[in-house]
Amino acid sequence: MRIGSLELGEKPVFFAPLAGITHAPARLLARQAGCPMAWSEMVSAEGLVRRQASSLSDLKRLPGEDPVAVQIFGADPKVMAEAARIVEDSGASVLDINAGCSVRKVVRQGAGVALMREPERMRQVLSAVRRAVRIPITLKIRSGWESDGAQALAVGRIAEDCGVDAVILHPRTAAQGFTGKADWTLIARLKGALSIPVIGNGDIQSPEDARRMREETGCDALMVGRRAVGDPHFFRQVMQALEGRPIPQETPAERLARMRRYVELGIACHGEETAFRLLRTRLPWFTRNLTGAAALRRRLAACRSLAEMHSLLSLLGDVHSYIAWDPDAI
Ligand SMILES: Cc1cc2nc3c(=O)[nH]c(=O)nc-3n(C[C@H](O)[C@H](O)[C@H](O)COP(=O)(O)O)c2cc1C
Repeated sequence: MRIGSLELGEKPVFFAPLAGITHAPARLLARQAGCPMAWSEMVSAEGLVRRQASSLSDLKRLPGEDPVAVQIFGADPKVMAEAARIVEDSGASVLDINAGCSVRKVVRQGAGVALMREPERMRQVLSAVRRAVRIPITLKIRSGWESDGAQALAVGRIAEDCGVDAVILHPRTAAQGFTGKADWTLIARLKGALSIPVIGNGDIQSPEDARRMREETGCDALMVGRRAVGDPHFFRQVMQALEGRPIPQETPAERLARMRRYVELGIACHGEETAFRLLRTRLPWFTRNLTGAAALRRRLAACRSLAEMHSLLSLLGDVHSYIAWDPDAI
C-alpha cells in the first residue's frame, strides 16, 4: 500500500491521531511494535503560523520514528498552506488534514468536521495545501453531518480532485461523537467510489475486528486509536493476525520493559520536568490487564520523579515469577 510516494507494506495498521496521547514517545513505541506509521496529535495551523511554542513543540519527533504523519487543523486556506509548509520543513513524512474533529472549540472555528459541510472551503483548503507542499497529503474525515454518508462520498471525491493521496474515514457522524457504532458499510462505499487509497478507522477492538474490517470494506489500510492506547503490542498482534500467523501474547515482563522505555523516551523528548507531568497520567494506561494493576498504579502515583518510576518498574521487571508478582511487596 502506498500513500503518494511512501511505500507502507501490504497490510498496514496505523496509529490514529489522538490529542493528548500520540506524542512522539507513544508513536515510537507503536512503531517499535510493528506499526508502519503513526499520526501526531492534531496541531493548530494558527499556532504553527504564529510560531507558538506549544504548537511547535507538537512537531517534535524522536530518532527512529520516521515515517510519521503530522495532522493540522484549521479553516483558512492561506493559514493551512503556511502551516503545511512548516510541517514539511520540520521533516514530517506525510501531512494530514483534520476534517473529522467534532469538539466544539474546533468546529466553532470552521475547522475539523465543520469543513465537511462547506465543500467550497474544503476544496480551497485542500488545493492551497496541495500547492504548498510536496510530501503526501491525507485527509481524515467522518461520515459528515447526516447519517446517509453522502457528505463523506462528496468530500472524498473533492479530495481526489485536489490531489490528496489518501482518505481516512471514521464513519460516525459529527453528532455521534464517539457514541453508537462506526458504520463500516460507509468505508466500503467510499472505497468503491475513489481511486486513491481509503484507510478504515473506528471500533477496531481486536485482531478479529481488524480482519473483519479489511474483509468487509476492502479498505487499503486500517487505523487504530483507542484500543492501542497504553498497548503498543496490539499492533504486533493485529499485523500477525492479518498475516494468518499466531497472535503473540505480551508477557508482564515485556510490558514493564515497554513502560520503562516509555519513561526513557519521555525524558529524551520533553526533558524530565515536562515528561513527569505528562507521564504521570499516561503511564497508568499501560497497566491495563496486568495482575496487580491497581497496586502498581498506586505505587506509580506515589513516585515523585520519573527516575523513581523507572526504578520501581525495573524492580518489578526483575521479579521473575509472575505468579509471585506483588507490587505492594516491593
Ligand atoms: C482522546 C481522543 C483524542 C482524539 N484526537 C484526535 C485528533 O487529534 N485528530 C483526529 O483526527 N482524531 C482524533 N480522535 C479520533 C481518533 O483518531 C479516531 O478516529 C477515533 O477514536 C475512532 O477510532 P478508534 O475506534 O480506533 O478509537 C481522537 C479520539 C480520542 C478518543
